[in-house]
Amino acid sequence: MQIQSLRGMVDLLPQHMELWQHVEAIIRRVMSSYGYSEIRTPLVEVASLFQRSIGEATDITEKELYLFADRNGIQLALRPEGTAGCVRAGIQHGLFYHKEPRLWYNGPMFRYERPQKGRYRQFWQLGAEVFGLKGPDIDAELILLNVQLWRALGVDGEVRLHLNSLGSPEERAVYCQSLVEYLTPLQHHLDGDSRRRLHSNPLRILDSKNLAVRELLRSAPKLAQFLGRESQEHFAGLCALLDGLGIVYRLDELLVRGLDYYTGTIFEWVTDALGAQNAVCGGGRYDGVVEQLGGSPTPSIGFSIGVERLILLVEEINPQFKTEASVDLYLISTSQDQLGALRLAELLRSQLPNLRLMSNFGGGEFKQQFKRANRVGAKIALVLNEGNPEEEQVTFKFLATGLEKKVARANVVAELRNSLKSESP
Ligand code: HAM
Repeated sequence: MQIQSLRGMVDLLPQHMELWQHVEAIIRRVMSSYGYSEIRTPLVEVASLFQRSIGEATDITEKELYLFADRNGIQLALRPEGTAGCVRAGIQHGLFYHKEPRLWYNGPMFRYERPQKGRYRQFWQLGAEVFGLKGPDIDAELILLNVQLWRALGVDGEVRLHLNSLGSPEERAVYCQSLVEYLTPLQHHLDGDSRRRLHSNPLRILDSKNLAVRELLRSAPKLAQFLGRESQEHFAGLCALLDGLGIVYRLDELLVRGLDYYTGTIFEWVTDALGAQNAVCGGGRYDGVVEQLGGSPTPSIGFSIGVERLILLVEEINPQFKTEASVDLYLISTSQDQLGALRLAELLRSQLPNLRLMSNFGGGEFKQQFKRANRVGAKIALVLNEGNPEEEQVTFKFLATGLEKKVARANVVAELRNSLKSESP
């Protein structure tokens, strides 16, 4: 039987990579323009890292972790997100000691969710995590960095920012108690999920999509009224900075996050363009996590963007997305001159390091070789002359126009440099 990829785990084929690489190049450029450094942590960690940081009573820990024991019986998990690994690595390597690292990562994450458009079991997250800074200035910069990414990718018109503050764990605990007191006598109106959460994780009820529950929440106590002075000042400071920067946001008092580690500022970028999976980016402060995982108290904040969702958005506004051809030059030669062709290809690559050169292999009539050149989208076919490897001239054929030109071997590099320069936008 033919083996297929696992459900929710998608192959990225060469024809997808053009767009992915374009998006990744912009990500890299924007991240470095803000002075953030890349970090790569393992895809597999000890399971308790996620259970302890993300929280026991969350969907991720309860139902979505890929859990398995290694040969020594140690319980491992595929990472469902990147924050916990960054914190673990930072503590382990002393990155937070007298330093305030600003990190970014881009890599695959794993969650055992029901797959649909924009929701996968292996998906990519671009994330940033900043340690040691209390904010709200850094909170504002992270949001600004999001805005620059949206602009650079042309999707700024497609996303909206939702903002809320969860306050300190103590403030939130008092609020949760009051929410439970309000909802308990009404629990027969709650759906099964919310009723269960009433005991395990009442804050997540605010996130319910159930209309009856949402109606009940209209008269429920509001988290904002339970925030102390420090939390209020932090949040007001952030809002003032965003106002000053002209960043439009919506204060969303029902916004909570699916992970338990958040404190204070939280935010999400949502879109109407992707159907049910409308969150493109989520983030916020998690000031308690470093200490919780064995480090010294370290204020922390970050965000993650779902890269597949971002790419779907870019395609939405630019359906025929096309960057330039992936091959500049296709080298056509006779089978008598294999050595000459390999030598010339190497010479050109060494003289023109940015040249993308593909050689014809497997022989074939010239007509057939030209067909292959067209199929790979080459700009120029270079023909090593027919039957006479010693001939001093080669032929350039510009595949878009069909124009041909004879060029002396000694001038090939200069001619190529010229032709490709005049081709580039
Ligand atoms: P999250 O909200 O769970 O946050 O995920 C962030 C983003 O990842 C989502 O907004 C969504 O775009 C994408 N995403 C999540 N699950 C899937 C999936 N199954 N398929 C495709 N895309 C998905 C976090 O993961 C936090 N670590 C964010 C963070 C970083 N907070 C502070 N620092």
